[in-house]
Order: sequence, then structure tokens, then C-alpha cells
Amino acid sequence: MHKIGTSERPDWQLAVVVGVGGMGMAAARRLSQRHRVLLADVDGARADQAAETLRIEGGDAMAIACDITDSAAVQKLSAAVDALGGFRVLAHVAGLSPSMGDFRAIMRVNLLGAVAVADGLRPRAGTGAAAILISSLAGHNFRPPESVEALLRDPADRDLADKLATALGETQATPQFAYALSKYGLMAYCRRQAGAWGERGARIVSLSPGMIATPMGAREFEKIPAKMKLYARTPLKREGTMLEIADAIEFLASDRASFISGTDLLVDGGLAAALMND
Ligand SMILES: NC(=O)c1ccc[n+]([C@@H]2O[C@H](COP(=O)([O-])OP(=O)(O)OC[C@H]3O[C@@H](n4cnc5c(N)ncnc54)[C@H](O)[C@@H]3O)[C@@H](O)[C@H]2O)c1
Repeated sequence: MHKIGTSERPDWQLAVVVGVGGMGMAAARRLSQRHRVLLADVDGARADQAAETLRIEGGDAMAIACDITDSAAVQKLSAAVDALGGFRVLAHVAGLSPSMGDFRAIMRVNLLGAVAVADGLRPRAGTGAAAILISSLAGHNFRPPESVEALLRDPADRDLADKLATALGETQATPQFAYALSKYGLMAYCRRQAGAWGERGARIVSLSPGMIATPMGAREFEKIPAKMKLYARTPLKREGTMLEIADAIEFLASDRASFISGTDLLVDGGLAAALMND
């Protein structure tokens, strides 16, 4: 029932966006044109503010504070989605860049947290639903040692970050390595999960952005000057924009992508291809 004076759209299906930083907010804004949106972030004030912004723009947006590394918080998120009638789209965008944490923190957010969200929400996926998990170009052109690869096959193991650090040795267990490894592991997880999501008539895909102009991207340029070399190799000779990532998320979430599951979409201006030719 429509409530006079509000933008509420109870007739629309739900899109859940986890991580409403630069890219997450661009995706949420786009998804809010056709869905009710539930915005989740470890920074509850940021999620509230983002939902308020979308409501002012005419969207039907709600917010929830959720630290994806905390299983009780992920359960709360899943219960909230259940109470809202399940979901049609999950855009999992939350992540830490290499300059934002140590090896374990990055693994816990980028891989274990993402897996906890996808596993926790899968039972709430309606027929035709799509989960889009944001990986990274960093997970491409990368292959971990076999012993590490074997450990990645159980990304729901709560002790995985410690086990990986031990297997690699503390000198190799750097934030940079964690970033590539976590995103590589996330792509492998999406491939393995296609069957489980398919049983529900739903899809799961990863999306790998290249260098995108977001506050996180800018911070990495500042902290890791070597990134300029990568930038120079990008065939399109520029960073991507958040709108270009929102375009890809919108497509993957839509029925036009109805036969796309268990795979990764690179949105990198051709950089992975250029690096492959090295
Ligand atoms: N910006 C780039 O160039 C680039 C390139 C490739 C991949 N990516 C990936 O894209 C995603 C989004 O990047 P962005 O540039 O928008 O980053 P951002 O820092 O602007 O946004 C990330 C959001 O995730 C949230 N978050 C962090 N830890 C969390 C936790 N434990 N629980 C819940 N939320 C948490 C943060 O509060 C923030 O709002 C990340 O996964 C990143 O790894 C970014």
C-alpha cells in the first residue's frame, strides 16, 4: 500500500548493496531506479546517510549497519532481508584495499566476509535473483602456490586467514598479496557456487574492476606510486568511472544477463589483456 508523501515502493523487489563507499553508492543509486534498496556498511552512519540521499532523490532506501566479518551481524542482515521478503539483487561491493589493513584483515573482509554474506543471503534469493560480488583485476594474471590454492577451497573456514598466513610464511603474507589472493579466491568461490545458486533459479557472478576513479583508487595511487606504471599500460589510457561499474552491475543484475552465471566480468579498459602479453 502506497503511503502518501513517501517514495516507498512496496511493489518493487529488493536489491541489497553491501559496502556503500564510492562504487557501492554508484551501484545503489542505479539499482534504486528499479528496486527497493537495502544499504549495509560497517560504517552505520555512512549507510544511513547514503539511504537518506537516495530517499531525497526519490528512491525507496533503507540502511543497516553490518560488519561482514562479524557472523552475528551477517545473520542480522540475512534476517532483515528475510523480513523484507527476500531479494532480487545482491551487489557485494565492500572491500579493503592493500593500504587499508594487514594480510589477515584484508583476507577477512575481502574473502571471508564476502563469502559469509553470499552464503548467508543465498537462502533468501528469489527465482531470477542475481548476486554480483566485486572482485578485482588484481585477482587476474595471478596464481597462488598449490598448497594455498587447496586452502582457498574452504573460504567459509573462520581460521582461513591464519592458515593462509602460516602456509605462505609471514614475509610473503603482505597486504598486497592478500588483496590479490582474496580477489582470486572470490572469483573461484563464485565459479564453485553457480550450482547452488542455480538450484534456486538464481545466478552468481563476480565483476573485476580495473583502475577506477574512487576515493579508494585515489588513496592507492598516493600510497603505492608503482600503480602509475599499471595506469600507463591501460589500453584506454584513463581510469574507469564509478558509472561504468554501475552500468556493468546493472546489466549483470538484469534479465538481459539471465544466462550468465559462475563467471567473471572484467571491466578494466583492457589492462588484464595488456598485462597478459608481457
Ligand atoms: N577503486 C578501484 O580502483 C578498485 C579496483 C578494483 C576493485 N575494487 C574493489 O571495489 C570495491 C569497492 O571499492 P571502492 O573504491 O568503492 O571502495 P570504498 O573504500 O569507497 O568502499 C568500500 C566500502 O566497504 C565498506 N567496508 C569496509 N569494510 C567493511 C566491513 N567489514 N563490513 C562492511 N562494510 C565494509 C567501507 O566502509 C566502504 O564504505 C572493493 O571491493 C574494492 O576492492 C576497487
